[in-house]
Amino acid sequence: MKEYYFVLIAFVAALSGILFGYDTGVMSGAILFIPNEYYLTPTMNGLLMGAVLFGAFLGAIFSGQITDHFGRRKVLITVAWIFILGSLWTALAGSIYQLISGRCIVGIAIGIASYVGPLYISEISPHKYRGGLIALNQLAITVGISLSYIVDYYASFYEAWRWMLGLGVAPGILLFFGMLYLPDSPRWLLTKGYEKAAREILQKVRGPSASIDEEVEDIKEVLKKEGHSQWKAVFTKVVRPVLWIGFALAFIQQITGINTVLYYAPSIFKMAGFGSSTSSILATMGIGGILVIFTIISLPLIDKWGRRPLMITGLLGMAIGLGVLAWLFKTSEIEASLHGWALASMFLYVACFSFSLGPVMWVMIAEIYPLKIRGIGASLATCMNWASNLLVTATFLQVVNYIGARGTFSVYMIFCVISIIFIYFFVPETKGVSLEHIENNLHAHKPWRQLGRKI
Ligand code: BGC
Repeated sequence: MKEYYFVLIAFVAALSGILFGYDTGVMSGAILFIPNEYYLTPTMNGLLMGAVLFGAFLGAIFSGQITDHFGRRKVLITVAWIFILGSLWTALAGSIYQLISGRCIVGIAIGIASYVGPLYISEISPHKYRGGLIALNQLAITVGISLSYIVDYYASFYEAWRWMLGLGVAPGILLFFGMLYLPDSPRWLLTKGYEKAAREILQKVRGPSASIDEEVEDIKEVLKKEGHSQWKAVFTKVVRPVLWIGFALAFIQQITGINTVLYYAPSIFKMAGFGSSTSSILATMGIGGILVIFTIISLPLIDKWGRRPLMITGLLGMAIGLGVLAWLFKTSEIEASLHGWALASMFLYVACFSFSLGPVMWVMIAEIYPLKIRGIGASLATCMNWASNLLVTATFLQVVNYIGARGTFSVYMIFCVISIIFIYFFVPETKGVSLEHIENNLHAHKPWRQLGRKI
């Protein structure tokens, strides 16, 4: 069992993903009942819906240096507290302003958790299984989203939006107690010079009979290379390739439209002419199920097939799904006889995202940056992810208004195709190599695509 200690660690750290998923998904149900208590102008509605995304952006941008300074574990423990307090603050809100500020606080925690969880897992996992273990975090996100749909469904009978928001406390408490018992990242400990503690933890996670000397020496070797744990180090020539790759992957994950489908699924189904709200909600729950199932399918494939083939195949499937959906929207509605096709194309799109861009983007931004600035690098890519999420979801309805559903889905399809080309030419394969290996290639100025190659 000792050998599987790292799996247990990855599971606990991935609890932060449940919070991420739950708190981004829960509002779609709560927003139906909040107006019964508080009058919401369209601006207030927009602020309330956008508060989490804005908070996440803030959380990600300001926490990178803190994560490198105080370590991943302490940051995750603090994040659990912010989640707990933020959820209570929203559940007990006495005014719309308290509600919006509470959602912003929860957002800050989401922004931090979204990259610190994967980063912590990446630094503790053996490289053979690293991709699948980091992707547990994405699985947790999808489970969190599905849980929020289920809670919303049952709480909606009582119009209990406060319970919907307040239940976010439960995974927060689990994360807090779980992280109390987990060790610090051995790699981070080495950056601070705590070699003895780092060795003890590494020995424990690799198993009592494993030899850890080579791994420790490799880490110490990369730490000797130039570079400071500061913001300006992220913009040096050596780091620039991974800075761009991280930004691009984070942008691609959002610009190809996933959250328009997730946040607006019931509206899209209604737009397509699906009769009742119930059939739209049921179809939305189907999407939740697909998210989880296809993320599970991706777990072993990330380390077996590799990151690049998964992303390229997934994007191809997403492009086909979007192309069919766009084609079906001949007018502003889809003919009733074609509803089955509309559903199938959306399911195809979500399934393909779930085994590719969904997990792989978070896996890669936890892997590619040099150790000393890994927190700052991952936080910057995460900011890009939340900013593009905000941009795409906030403009979706207006864009549909201007160019129609067909035009909008066609644009996302074109982004998928451009992304395939970018990934093919520029994104490295990082499966099966150590994090130090990637860092050494970066210092050796290898071409972008070869950063994951064995030297
Ligand atoms: C993305 C989120 C998305 C979620 C869906 C994550 O990887 O970053 O924006 O809502 O996947 O599962």
